[in-house]
Amino acid sequence: MRTPTIRTRVGIVGAGPAGLMLSHLLHLRGIDSIVLESRSRSDVEGTIRAGVLEQNTVDLMVETGVGDRVKAEGLRHSGVEFRFAGRGRRIDFEELTGRSVTVYPQHEVLTDLIARRLDDDGDVRFEVSDVTVHDHQSDNPTISFVDKDGSEQLIACDLVAGCDGSRTGTRFLIPEAQVRTDHFRQYPFAWFGILAEAPQTSEELIYAHHERGFALCSTRTADVQRHYLQVDPEDTVEQWSDDRIWDELHKRVDGEGAEVREGTIFSKSVLQFRSFVCEPLQHGRLFLAGDSAHTVPPTGAKGMNLAIADVFVLSNAMATYFETRDDRGLVSYSETVLPRIWRAQHFSYWMTSMLHTAPGATNFDLRRQIAELDTVTRSAAGRTLIAENYVGVAFG
Ligand code: DHB
Repeated sequence: MRTPTIRTRVGIVGAGPAGLMLSHLLHLRGIDSIVLESRSRSDVEGTIRAGVLEQNTVDLMVETGVGDRVKAEGLRHSGVEFRFAGRGRRIDFEELTGRSVTVYPQHEVLTDLIARRLDDDGDVRFEVSDVTVHDHQSDNPTISFVDKDGSEQLIACDLVAGCDGSRTGTRFLIPEAQVRTDHFRQYPFAWFGILAEAPQTSEELIYAHHERGFALCSTRTADVQRHYLQVDPEDTVEQWSDDRIWDELHKRVDGEGAEVREGTIFSKSVLQFRSFVCEPLQHGRLFLAGDSAHTVPPTGAKGMNLAIADVFVLSNAMATYFETRDDRGLVSYSETVLPRIWRAQHFSYWMTSMLHTAPGATNFDLRRQIAELDTVTRSAAGRTLIAENYVGVAFG
């Protein structure tokens, strides 16, 4: 075995929201880390993902000095509209919970975190390959990788964070059967996402139930809109002409008080989705955070917020361990984060099943869904349940 040439406290695999925020939070506690990422910086900063931040996420960004742009450019939303049976019902987050959400895309969060890590002389290495974690069950884990220039490197660290997203390699270091249980759920639909230069359809997001399938009108700026349509998972971008997309959005969304506003579509993609949780999220000195350990269907936009919630807990546990050698926070990490993960699973599943039309849905199924939407949005208790989950329960 080669002798490690690089030494750090925490080796972090993956420069997504979990890995970068973890590295940032550790730095603020005086703990150094190295982040290894297989993609290029421009790829990380350019990949389009969801765009809704819980107030917790925004507050944490602001409190830790990476919130200037989200404060200036993020769009604060104090409610959303659910549409069904041709009309809308508003859920007023502010009135029901005193909190709000902010529309600010994930890649902008990543851009802010990368800029700050580099400003703070943080060590973030892009375009690395063959990242392999060794001996995570010993007191001396190492991570080997090939850097951007093709030279082999070996890092010695105390702790390893697996933040390598849904295509994770680190999760598989937790032995299946004896230790790890994976919980899966597939869905018989996908989302077709577009970005369009167009005026906002509405000031707030619209979640629309329709017998033709779910539709979501979201936004990015006053001039750029993000919309989604429920489609068949086998559908391709080529099958969806601009006309077909607008026609379908009108059919599913338009009605009393709403009309989709058209424009020029400049991005189209099909997003597959599923629910997944791995338990536990740790083994030896390896700790998983974010999508490497769990994914949610996108309805309700919990994915990135959950990743940030994980590393809020993990960074505290790691920092306490380095400061005092008290490892109780690390030992109980999975136990601490799993209840929030499962609550988000429930909420995302519930929103998905309440709003999407299953293949072969009968009139009974559709009428039952409309009754569910009516029941939930009519009652203050029902609206509060949605609002509390949508804005997110406070971290910690
Ligand atoms: C967006 C994505 C979501 O999954 C959602 O529930 C709301 C908005 C978005 O990308 O804007």
